[in-house]
Amino acid sequence: MTLSSVATATSSQSALTASQQSVRIKVSSLDKVYPSPQGDVVAVEKVSFDVRQGEFVALLGPSGCGKSTILNMVAGLLPRTGGDIRIDQDAVTLGQVNRKVGYVFQRDTVFPWRTVEANIGYGLEIAGVAKAQRGPKVEQAITKAGLTGFGKSFPRMLSGGMRQRVALMRTLIMEPEILLMDEPFGALDTHTKLEMHKTLLEIWERERQTVLFVTHDLGEALTLASRIILLSARPGRLKEDFEVPFSRPRDAVSLRETKEFGELYTHIWHSLGEEFRRTKAE
Ligand SMILES: Nc1ncnc2c1ncn2[C@@H]1O[C@H](COP(=O)(O)OP(=O)(O)O)[C@@H](O)[C@H]1O
Ligand SMILES: [Mg+2]
Repeated sequence: MTLSSVATATSSQSALTASQQSVRIKVSSLDKVYPSPQGDVVAVEKVSFDVRQGEFVALLGPSGCGKSTILNMVAGLLPRTGGDIRIDQDAVTLGQVNRKVGYVFQRDTVFPWRTVEANIGYGLEIAGVAKAQRGPKVEQAITKAGLTGFGKSFPRMLSGGMRQRVALMRTLIMEPEILLMDEPFGALDTHTKLEMHKTLLEIWERERQTVLFVTHDLGEALTLASRIILLSARPGRLKEDFEVPFSRPRDAVSLRETKEFGELYTHIWHSLGEEFRRTKAE
């Protein structure tokens, strides 16, 4: 099957499912200007998109194009200059914690003084869940993340990939319906990154959280996402929106060797490559 026939076949299918699915994140005409002594930096300009229930959407673009800025505004961590953001139709307000939303940062943000299990159970502890109830949940999370046997270890005894698994499970244990992820595997080497892709795919394909995943890595976006929203170089504008039609469950390793993967990679790469070049030319 050619790429275009794959795209046509799935776009009619997804149009059907899309109309049945509810919008969880709605971003409309979003703007962000950072004031700076050298003058205003327009980071994001008129960005609009929806993320529906159970979708895994990758926000893809070159470094500095405004991906983190957008994600932080969606999370309510950063004020916007203009536009509107809704989660389940409620306006996102600065600094207001939404219990439905979980956030995984690029840098592993585990506490060095807490063991793996105390890190993973942190959110539950803060939420007042008793130790007896936390225990089995933490144990389950440790197994899911492939960290069996490391519950009593401290972060300094773990590799970067393992620490990022801890950070991931610390968020997932709170059972967020909506997951915001900012290049969570960006600091990992290629092999470890693939391992993380396998783990995340296994979890997501079972639990189907609604995900907005920021990355500059096209291979990563194609491996994980159901849809890719491509942003332009700064100021970040919405450039294109691609369906990723590969069937699930996906195998993070063998998927990359398929013809369909290669074709879609090349197709999007042309568009992304233009933006990388614009970033470099600045
Ligand atoms: N606090 C800030 N003040 C001024 N400029 C900023 C600030 N934060 C980010 N920027 C600029 O905004 C643009 C987008 O940044 P960011 O959202 O971090 O990009 P990305 O996550 O895509 O790499 C970049 O040019 C960056 O330098
Ligand atoms: Mg960023």
